[in-house]
Parts: sequence; structure tokens; C-alpha cells
Amino acid sequence: MIKLNTNENPYPPSPAVLETLARAADASVRLYPDPEARALRARAAEVYGVPMDHILAGNGSDELLALVLRATVDPGDRVAFPVPSYSLYETLVAVQGGESVQVPFGDDFRLPPALGRARARVTFLCNPNSPSGTLVPLAEVEALAREGAGVLVVDEAYVDFAPSHALGLVGRLPNVLVLRTLSKSFSLAGLRVGLAFGHPELLAGLRTVKDSYNVSRLSQAAAVAALGDLPAMQANVARVRATRSRLTAGLERLGFRVLPSEANFVLARRPGVDQGPVARALAARDILVRHFAQPGLEDALRITVGTDDEVDALLAALRAR
Ligand SMILES: Cc1ncc(COP(=O)(O)O)c(C=O)c1O
Repeated sequence: MIKLNTNENPYPPSPAVLETLARAADASVRLYPDPEARALRARAAEVYGVPMDHILAGNGSDELLALVLRATVDPGDRVAFPVPSYSLYETLVAVQGGESVQVPFGDDFRLPPALGRARARVTFLCNPNSPSGTLVPLAEVEALAREGAGVLVVDEAYVDFAPSHALGLVGRLPNVLVLRTLSKSFSLAGLRVGLAFGHPELLAGLRTVKDSYNVSRLSQAAAVAALGDLPAMQANVARVRATRSRLTAGLERLGFRVLPSEANFVLARRPGVDQGPVARALAARDILVRHFAQPGLEDALRITVGTDDEVDALLAALRAR
């Protein structure tokens, strides 16, 4: 199976992570994990230059997204986000009884000006965005935060594959929450570790609604090791970015239009041509890519950047159609 549908990393995590996991898998698992994930937050503070009291660890950034809504949104409150974007936002807002204010991106996926005027309690900005892979410049993110977007959650799940990030806003703007995950660039999707960076008051709200022991012992230990070996992550990111260029060029040669991606996936379009049958034909050959059966995206495939061999197999299968 060639799995290019959920934006995992095709390369293994740092060897230090695997050694740490082997060492940590001992009788100490009878004990609960540290509810405050102190070792992990201390390591993240060092790595990212953000004080430890501005960091909260989650069971993946999906948990952190849910905590934000649980802590800040009452039934009927408005939660704004551009669309198309990460589909979980709408689901979580519905679970919380909030009102989703969906502001359409234009064809170029630039930040829609209406987003800052949505009078929302919470605004989500996925940056780089999924499924488009496009990046909103930092100055525009800051302007959005200052414009009154309520709590601005910058979901940076894919930011290690991009040239800029918003962590520098965290100390300066109390309404900005930056979410990171170790699932993508650090190759740890199976361990479920996310990090929230924000003002301590904002994080205190999230803490009141979080499970005490939300990140397992093994996950905390592995995440400390992963953050301790940035060169391993950076080497994988460099390989993914190089293959992203090859994938983009290969898809363009086959007639797809590909948006400039700053993530570990690309959105490839054939304007006006439903790509559902293409995704199904690929699946029949054990190649999984993501097709969204939703208005405006039927003619697109979101394809995770795999290894060079996986990408070659995908391009060959597309060529053979
Ligand atoms: C935009 C975005 N945010 C968050 C996540 C969730 O990441 P995690 O594995 O940390 O829950 C994903 C996963 O695909 C994602 O695409």
C-alpha cells in the first residue's frame, strides 16, 4: 500500500526516538504520566525560545483544537475560519454548539479580508493551509490577530515544511494561540503529541477542560527525544521538500494545475474534471490519495509527498490511465 492520503511523513523518526521508546517501555508504565508534561515543555521552551508557562502539551493537536473550543465557546458563539480548510474545525464547532462562520478563500488562497470582520469568538487559520498547501504571510497573520479575530488559533501543523511561522507573535499578542504537532515533520503521528503556544491565561482556560493525563508516558518521552534531535527532523523535511518539487513538476507534466505548496502535500487540480474516479482507480492499485467530494474541490486531489519511489509509482499510475 502506498499511503499518500493523510499527510504522514514517509521517513522514520530520529533513531534517538526509537531508542528512547525502547528504554521507556519498562515497568514504569504502571505509573501515570506527568499531567503537566514538564520535561516535554521544558525541552520545547529551549527549542522554540518560548517560556515554559506559555506551552501546553496535548494528545495531538486535534485534542488542543477541541480544548480551545471547549474552553472558549458557548452555544451560539461564532467561530470563523476560511474554507476549504481542515475539516475538523467545522465538526468541533458543531459538537460545541457554536456557529461556524465559513469565509471562502478565492482561487489563489490568499487570506480573505472578510475573515477579520467576522466578529468571531475564535478564528482558526490553518497555515500552511490544508488542503491547498498555501501559506499566508506572517504580516497578514499579525494584522488578523490585531483586527479583532477573537482568539486567533494559528494551526501550524505543516509549518516545518514552510519558510515562516507565527511563534514570534505569541509573546506579543495575548489572543494568539499557535498549535504545532509532532505528527508531520517529526514523523510521530502514531504517538499523538501536539503543543500549544500562547499566553498563560489562555492556556489556563485550556487546562481546566483537559484530561489530567492527556499525553502518555511513552509519548512524552519520545517527544522529548524528537525535539532533542532537530537535525534528524530537518533532514527528513529537506527530503520531503525536494520530492515535493519533483511531484509538482511530474503532476504539471501530466496536465494538473498544482498550487505552490509550503506543506508536505500538494493540491493538484484538473479544472472541471471530477477526480473521484481517479482516486478510486488509484486505490484499486493500492495507492491512496485524498479526494474531497465537496463543492469546489471535486476536481482536485490532495497528495501527500511520499518517498521518491512512492511518488514515481503514483506518477506512473496516473500516466497509465
Ligand atoms: C491542519 C491540521 N491540523 C491538525 C492536525 C492534527 O494533527 P495531530 O496528529 O497532531 O492531531 C492535522 C492532521 O492531519 C491537520 O491537517
